[in-house]
Amino acid sequence: MLLLLLLGVVTSRCLHDETQKSVSLLRPPFSQLPPNFRSSSLTFPGSRDPQPLRIQTCYIEDSISDGAWDPEGNGKRGGSRALAAVREATQRIQGVLAVPPVQGPLLLSRDPTQYCHAVWGDPDTLNYHRCSLLNPGYKGESCLGAKIPDAHLHGYALWPEQGPPQLVQPDGPGVQNSDFLLYVRVAHTSKCHQEPSIIAYAASCQLDSDDRPLAGTIVYCAQHLTSPSLSHSDIVMATLHELLHALGFSGQLFKKWRDCPSGLRVRENCSTRPQVMRRNEWGQLLLTTPAVSHSLARHLGVPRVSLGVPLEEEGPLSSHWEARLLQGSLMTATFDGAQRTRLDPITLAAFEDSGWYQVNHSTAEELLWGQGSGLDFGLVTTCGTGSSDFFCTGSGLGCHYLHLDKGSCSSDPMLEGCRMYKPLANGSECWKKENGFPAEAENPHGEIYHSQSRCFLANLTSQLLPGEETRHPSQIPYLKEVELTGRCYLHQCTERGAYKVQVEGSPWVPCVPGKPIQIPGYYGLLFCPRGRLCQTNEVTNAVTSSPVSLSTQDQLFQLSLRLAGPPGHSLGKEQQEELAEAVLQALVSRGGIDRCYFHSPSITPSLVFTVHMQKSSGCQGPSVAMLHGALTLTLQEKPLEVCHGEASFIAEYSKLLVTLDHNPSKTHVSLSIGLCLMLLILMGALGIVAYQKRASLQVGPSAPYHSPQLHSTRGPVGRIREV
Ligand SMILES: *[C@@H]1O[C@H](CO)[C@@H](O)[C@H](O)[C@H]1NC(C)=O
Ligand SMILES: *[C@@H]1O[C@H](CO)[C@@H](O)[C@H](O)[C@H]1NC(C)=O
Ligand SMILES: *[C@@H]1O[C@H](CO)[C@@H](O)[C@H](O)[C@H]1NC(C)=O
Ligand SMILES: *[C@@H]1O[C@H](CO)[C@@H](O)[C@H](O)[C@H]1NC(C)=O
Repeated sequence: MLLLLLLGVVTSRCLHDETQKSVSLLRPPFSQLPPNFRSSSLTFPGSRDPQPLRIQTCYIEDSISDGAWDPEGNGKRGGSRALAAVREATQRIQGVLAVPPVQGPLLLSRDPTQYCHAVWGDPDTLNYHRCSLLNPGYKGESCLGAKIPDAHLHGYALWPEQGPPQLVQPDGPGVQNSDFLLYVRVAHTSKCHQEPSIIAYAASCQLDSDDRPLAGTIVYCAQHLTSPSLSHSDIVMATLHELLHALGFSGQLFKKWRDCPSGLRVRENCSTRPQVMRRNEWGQLLLTTPAVSHSLARHLGVPRVSLGVPLEEEGPLSSHWEARLLQGSLMTATFDGAQRTRLDPITLAAFEDSGWYQVNHSTAEELLWGQGSGLDFGLVTTCGTGSSDFFCTGSGLGCHYLHLDKGSCSSDPMLEGCRMYKPLANGSECWKKENGFPAEAENPHGEIYHSQSRCFLANLTSQLLPGEETRHPSQIPYLKEVELTGRCYLHQCTERGAYKVQVEGSPWVPCVPGKPIQIPGYYGLLFCPRGRLCQTNEVTNAVTSSPVSLSTQDQLFQLSLRLAGPPGHSLGKEQQEELAEAVLQALVSRGGIDRCYFHSPSITPSLVFTVHMQKSSGCQGPSVAMLHGALTLTLQEKPLEVCHGEASFIAEYSKLLVTLDHNPSKTHVSLSIGLCLMLLILMGALGIVAYQKRASLQVGPSAPYHSPQLHSTRGPVGRIREV
């Protein structure tokens, strides 16, 4: 088995069939050593409960890749990048897969066909079938080009026709605390050379007596590890993909999957699964084991139907899910970058079906693609009929289904004629600030590029741009006809499945999933996707730096609250941000004030919360001074109480400050009005400190938003393909 991960356009030649023959899967043979030469492996009865899979990594330095031609140490740098990714991927797997632990040190087998030239062939001889002649050219064992150290291997011996053997190599000490040995190479192999788009490939090399893979190798093509086009999370995801192949998700291993009716612990009456794959009436290859079938049926919303899971057509064997059905799964043949890839429930179900692993299903990441779309989803016959909005027709612009990217409606060989919105070649990511417009550029559609921005189908056009107030709308060219297209706007989750959006200069507007909405200050509509955004229970974290440009037309106020927390409570930086957001949410809902008035919430380690209040250009509603007053009154009536995590915080006193605007040309009139109001409010606020009522306002803590897309840097340009 050999599986390759390719970066670049999906025109790369498929290397799978040609290369899988290069690795033979070894199983433990009859021992070639007499008992007194064998390493003693102890067995501990009763300790076979599944434990997290222990993967030991062994970095095999390539003899070719070190030396004079690498003066900048690229190989070393690539090596440490690869190892960092392997460490992260193996840790992740450890939380997902468990096996009955290997007892004693893990020792790999030698291949008799390699070290032995001839065996005794006469059944009547004592040493029948044992090695009678060594292969003089034997260079030891290797796994996909990684030389396996003798220390990890069983020994071997030469046997005379009769009598005791002559020991050539004793058993190595083996590897302690290991259920799987992963050899890692960073190299510039001929495969890397022939197909410059390959970033890594992997194979498993040895199986245990139940056929569970015991060892494998992952080879990284060195040039990709030193290139900046792949982020760390991309390399981690690519590693995870290869590792899952090596651990059993492979066309060559599917047919070795086990059915163990008595469970993983007892492992009695296990048998090889009779039918793992079949072709359906349309010739589609399916993986038909029970857990994957169940999982797919649940995913599509047809729970009682027994479906097989379609596999990609890759020749006689297939090691990937069909992309039309399981787009975005880690185990499809095309890899779109870490941001768009999920370790999904159906892939985890496959590991359960292997019979080798106990799977922690709660580690699965939700797969949005096709969710609840029914039996007809993802067929070549239905994808072009407009029956599902996961697919598109024509070649227009819209949004990739995860709404992180703008997309253009297109196809690829894996989609077999079906079309979907694929990320644009350049600058499609709404969540990247650097894709946005320079400050002074025209932005008639009010787009905002920000870590919390998402793609929305819209045809918004601002009603008034500076200098165009006097023109009739029909005279402004871009107002005449605006096509619906993908645009980037800020979003914020309010609860599961619910969110609001903000367009440049507009207030936050609640979105009605599945419906178009209007945005104050804009012509046209914004369509709120259903079932795509805010699907986890998390409320989006602070929109930390407001992208809204502050207008200088309104007074800038600053509101400070001192919070009293539990004694001895200390906050990390991230928690500070979360708490600041929680306090702001509490303020917003307490005052019924639109979020667009508030900017730059922050909290100090001594728990002084500060937020700026200013009416930004698109904010609809009363002046900031009035709102400020109203807010103060309600704070007087009832101090703000904010629950965050397990702690609860109370606003001990409110201090309201007016900040002299950075712009000194502010009119004195408005300033002094503001100041007077401030002073009044300040006195009122201080007055209530003495008799706080203990009525509380509960604010759900804003859980950390750990969707990876918010942290990762650049996804790969184009697509990565695996063959
Ligand atoms: C294994 O199969 C035998 C014969 O069918 C049966 O008696 C036994 O209970 C089975 N063991 C387990 C653990 O299921
Ligand atoms: C399964 O994974 C979840 C999430 O990572 C974790 O909280 C839980 O403890 C795990 N369960 C087991 C049995 O390991
Ligand atoms: C992407 O777009 C930017 C700005 O429009 C441009 O400078 C850059 O050359 C483009 N890159 C590619 C690969 O097209
Ligand atoms: C926006 O699109 C909607 C629906 O297609 C259309 O009815 C409307 O006229 C468009 N508005 C503008 C300003 O183009």
